Amino acid sequence: MSAATTLLVAALVAQGPPDSTGAMLYRAWCAACHGHDGRGDAARQTHLSVRPANLAECKSSTAETDDAWIGIVRDGGAAYGLSLDMPAFRDGASPEQLRAVVRYIRSLCGERGWPPGELNFPRPVLAEKAYPENEAVLALRGREQEYIYERRLRRRAQLEASARTVVDSLSRPFDGVTAALKYNVWYSGERRALASLGVEATPPLGRQDLWELEPFIAFGANPLPALFLQGEVLGAWEATQGVTGFSYSLGAGREVGRFVPMLEVGGTVRRVGKSTVSLVPQMRVQLSRLGHVAGSLGVELPAVGPAPRHPRLTAFLLWDYGDAGLLRGW
Ligand code: HEC
Repeated sequence: MSAATTLLVAALVAQGPPDSTGAMLYRAWCAACHGHDGRGDAARQTHLSVRPANLAECKSSTAETDDAWIGIVRDGGAAYGLSLDMPAFRDGASPEQLRAVVRYIRSLCGERGWPPGELNFPRPVLAEKAYPENEAVLALRGREQEYIYERRLRRRAQLEASARTVVDSLSRPFDGVTAALKYNVWYSGERRALASLGVEATPPLGRQDLWELEPFIAFGANPLPALFLQGEVLGAWEATQGVTGFSYSLGAGREVGRFVPMLEVGGTVRRVGKSTVSLVPQMRVQLSRLGHVAGSLGVELPAVGPAPRHPRLTAFLLWDYGDAGLLRGW
């Protein structure tokens, strides 16, 4: 941090009442740059090279966790690859004050019905996430590649478009496309759990011969501090064939610093043909300092199903483009 920002923090902290509510701390410490309402139209802004984010915007503030924002306020923008102009308050503010001021800025959204970022659990390999996201993902599973674009619509809905390719002996690698709509039907910040319903539609393109519709339910919960569970049940309906079966998955993981080891169990039950069950141990790694770019590596181990049951590599790279640009936050 430069000498000027150190002095600025010292001056701001000196103005702050020693123990006070988040609103009072905000006015004393933050409003000069972020504006009185958090929207960032403050006088001091003219000197800033990066315009501070609109802290009052529900879309961005609710998708964050308290802890992520406490980190930025405590350690400053530079620690997360953001602008040096966002000062570090660690020397002047107590942990209680940091929490109070972050609680206050997260309350500026003022609308109910936005699921909190605390319920945005790390993306697993098998299950669809229940949380609505703004994300671009490149996923690999054995010889299959999937390119996924997810876009959040308002509070609870999300649209998704994906395309698949397969690299195998066949000459045409294009496998097909899928569109999906997801809606968060229930969440509880107190119980730290959420559930969403959705449907995936796959037209007869690429290697897909018939229309396929797959309704699903996805859920996530955080029953113990560092542990979370995520799962999905998905039904499959095909044109002319009707219901062809369903698939399910359930996984558990915990956060250990930048790493999230997870274990998922998933299976398919088909009306015709053998059922399958696989285990997928996997490791998700936060790549950018801000946490908006992450990767995952794992292996899908078939336990039940038709032979030969070869293990398949799973991997993905994701960019939470709702959080920051691809080149920022490193
Ligand atoms: C000297 C000006 C300045 C002061 C004072 C300041 N900020 Fe910031 N803040 C910024 C700038 C500039 C950014 C944008 C950083 C970026 O995006 O690169 C920012 C970013 C942030 C972010 C990240 C937003 C996001 O979308 O990721 C949070 C949270 C934040 N500030 C909270 C606070 C709080 C709380 C205070 C008071 C305790 C405060 N700031 C004081 C300038 C300031």
